[in-house]
Amino acid sequence: MGLFKRGSTKLTYGMFDLARDATEAKRLHTCERIYHKGQVLAWDGKELLPELLAKHRGVHVAPEKRHALKRVFAIILWGELAAWKISAQLADGLVPLEAKMAATSQAFDEARHFYTMYDYLTELGYVPERLDPAPEALLNHVLETDDLAAKLLGMQLLIETIALAIFQEVREANVDPVLSELMKYFERDEARHVALGVQYLPSLFRDMSRAELIKLSLFQAKLVGYALWENKVLEPDFKQLGINPRRILDRARAKQMAAVREAWRTLGWDVDSQRGVVMPLIGATVELMFPTERTRGSRRARLGAAWDALTKPLETDPNALDIHDTHRIRTARGEVVEGAVTDSAASEPARAAAN
Ligand SMILES: [Fe+2]
Ligand SMILES: [Fe+2]
Repeated sequence: MGLFKRGSTKLTYGMFDLARDATEAKRLHTCERIYHKGQVLAWDGKELLPELLAKHRGVHVAPEKRHALKRVFAIILWGELAAWKISAQLADGLVPLEAKMAATSQAFDEARHFYTMYDYLTELGYVPERLDPAPEALLNHVLETDDLAAKLLGMQLLIETIALAIFQEVREANVDPVLSELMKYFERDEARHVALGVQYLPSLFRDMSRAELIKLSLFQAKLVGYALWENKVLEPDFKQLGINPRRILDRARAKQMAAVREAWRTLGWDVDSQRGVVMPLIGATVELMFPTERTRGSRRARLGAAWDALTKPLETDPNALDIHDTHRIRTARGEVVEGAVTDSAASEPARAAAN
């Protein structure tokens, strides 16, 4: 009879029995829409990139910018692979059907981002090589953690928002017209991935103890530390591309705040007034490591800015994520999809993903 004895199973039979209140049901419904939206908005990199190359008659990157562009986008390339692996881990690990669907749709998007970015970099003459220690450590930490909340926070709210800030800067600086057009397609997808974190993280937070939340804050601080180190390493490359490294940080932070504000609000936590310890410390570190035009020449001004970051609320654009959903794209089905029209009434990242 031992032959028929039933052991443990990875099939989550209880996934439909999970209790959910009205707010959580609404958030999970948005996760389900992320999956369907991903299907409708999927584009074909094998069709798009050759078309863009033909339209612009190849890549046009100034010779003095090529090396810097390859350095920055090598991190993006391997970041896309990490995002593909991490979203596949989440698709396996998240239990509710709708969150699992959204993560699965992300894995599909990230596979497309990875091969399209590889094809683009091949046009630039990029030969794959190992990353600098800082970006590699940042990606490794999120890849290797078994904690789903840490994985979701690290990928969806931190790495995705940094990538979005870089994409936006590179597109606006118009380093290469092919890349600028490509970025619009990437941005629309990545904004949906941020929305998964915004919608599902509150469900994970709700069941966490205070000690677990503190551990998560420390994990977040470590990731931000690696991200700041990475930005420092890339500082000369960004400058070579005509991009202000401090503005990338400011934009990434504004996007993170927009996402975090929305996620935490469902738990009754106002991040603007209840700032905790980690956020002010990160703000002060940014002021010391990446001075602005105003504070660059003066130690006193830098220390003053760091003190302000420790003691005053951080003012960021609450609509910082909206821009990524405004791009017009052509899908793999050949349909042209207009971008969302943004106004203050449609400012929430969650709404951007759900529309
Ligand atoms: Fe991606
Ligand atoms: Fe992504």
